[in-house]
Amino acid sequence: MESISVGLLGLGTVGSGVVKVIESHQDKLMHQIGCPVQIKKALVKEINKVRDVDIDTSILTLDPEEVLLDPEIDIVVEVMGNIEETKEHLVKALTHKKHVVTANKDLMAVYGPELLSLASENQCDLFYEASVAGGIPILRGLVDGLASDRITKMMGIVNGTTNFILTKMTKEGRSFDDVLAEAQALGFAEADPTADVGGLDSARKMAILSTLGFSMNIDLDDVKLKGITEVTEEDLQYAKQFGYIMKLIGYAHREGNRVEVSVEPALLEESHPLASVNDEYNAVYVYGEAVGETMFYGPGAGSLPTATAVVSDLVGVMKNMRLGVNGKSAVSPQFLKQLKDDEEIYSKHFLRLHVEDEVGVLSSITSVFSQNGASFEKVLQNPLGEEKAEIVLVTHKTSLKSFEKILVELRDLKGVQFVKSTYRVEGGDA
Ligand code: NDP
Ligand code: HSE
Repeated sequence: MESISVGLLGLGTVGSGVVKVIESHQDKLMHQIGCPVQIKKALVKEINKVRDVDIDTSILTLDPEEVLLDPEIDIVVEVMGNIEETKEHLVKALTHKKHVVTANKDLMAVYGPELLSLASENQCDLFYEASVAGGIPILRGLVDGLASDRITKMMGIVNGTTNFILTKMTKEGRSFDDVLAEAQALGFAEADPTADVGGLDSARKMAILSTLGFSMNIDLDDVKLKGITEVTEEDLQYAKQFGYIMKLIGYAHREGNRVEVSVEPALLEESHPLASVNDEYNAVYVYGEAVGETMFYGPGAGSLPTATAVVSDLVGVMKNMRLGVNGKSAVSPQFLKQLKDDEEIYSKHFLRLHVEDEVGVLSSITSVFSQNGASFEKVLQNPLGEEKAEIVLVTHKTSLKSFEKILVELRDLKGVQFVKSTYRVEGGDA
């Protein structure tokens, strides 16, 4: 091959980073693939926009077909975002025998299996390393690095924006809105940050991770989801008092072939490997039966880190082109999905209640727990004035089903005013 031509769909934060990484690492790319890489066309929304990268504007286009149907373009790099319109572009690219590299978790979480099977029908590669945890090579870590092992648990901080918010709220006592605005200005948050703070962005990434890690098709709808919008400064302070750090955790656990996948704000013991992952950093803790505990850590968002993953995927495609093995690396899922029921999901729980400060209330709360086979590991009571009090407790491990029944009964219990908040609590145990 004399050179490899790439077409970009999108030239924003990640797309500009891709151009910069290709230019600045051209020597290394040449060494690995044996020929230069050139960007032939780039689809954008606005030609005359001021861009964060020096680029010949004659390669910019508003017409997707100039990228998707150009016979000289070998690989399409999709870094434009969106789901439905982008899916149509990728279907067109693949049916025209172009390999695809994408950073789009929104798309892959929903249409990943369909697009992957279209790619293999067309002997094309479809790689998506950047879609989960930006610059961390977690997908290759699972698929190649841990190919020999049986993964039973993954816990991930896979959204930089929410980790940034929770870190700043906990360490600097800043407000949610103030820190979110900073995360937007720094370019971690999505243009509409609802998916970040509501947990959907993490859920998409956990659907992708658990599909690969457990080798079964986990759909986005299978991921139980709770974001951080209702987390209060009081919750963070009580967590700290009990020796916990709050993180938005993507959780995937397999017992036998039954799995649970969730995203929720959870309290981690300070000694947990994920508790010290701060600011916009991401990390994925992976437990394999043979390897034991591993952790993949790094920048989960941002122009150059994400572009590194995209360009590494490009190198993967190009190496496959040289060997003539494109479209052969995707492995179909080994197992049929079996989701756990709530009675099979066990954890400790943090609970904050507002109650009447009167004789017998704590004892009737204790009875509700014991009647449901649950008990407390830690408890504290704070007077709130006007004969009200706050009770904060952490349970021993109990099933989600029992805990939800307890919550229903507590809400009806005489003397209990409100259930203020509840969070899953995680120790360092696998
Ligand atoms: P940006 O919004 O910065 O860039 C999007 C680019 O796509 C822009 O160049 C825009 O054109 C172009 N574009 C968008 N819609 C259209 C359209 N309908 N037609 C033509 N061009 C279009 O997004 P990012 O670079 O931040 O993200 C790109 C993808 O990478 C997303 O899927 C995102 O989820 C994913 N990702 C992003 C990370 C990050 O840190 N930012 C990290 C990991 C993944 P124009 O420039 O003219 O407006
Ligand atoms: N908005 C995402 C985040 C970008 O904050 O992690 C990376 O996917």
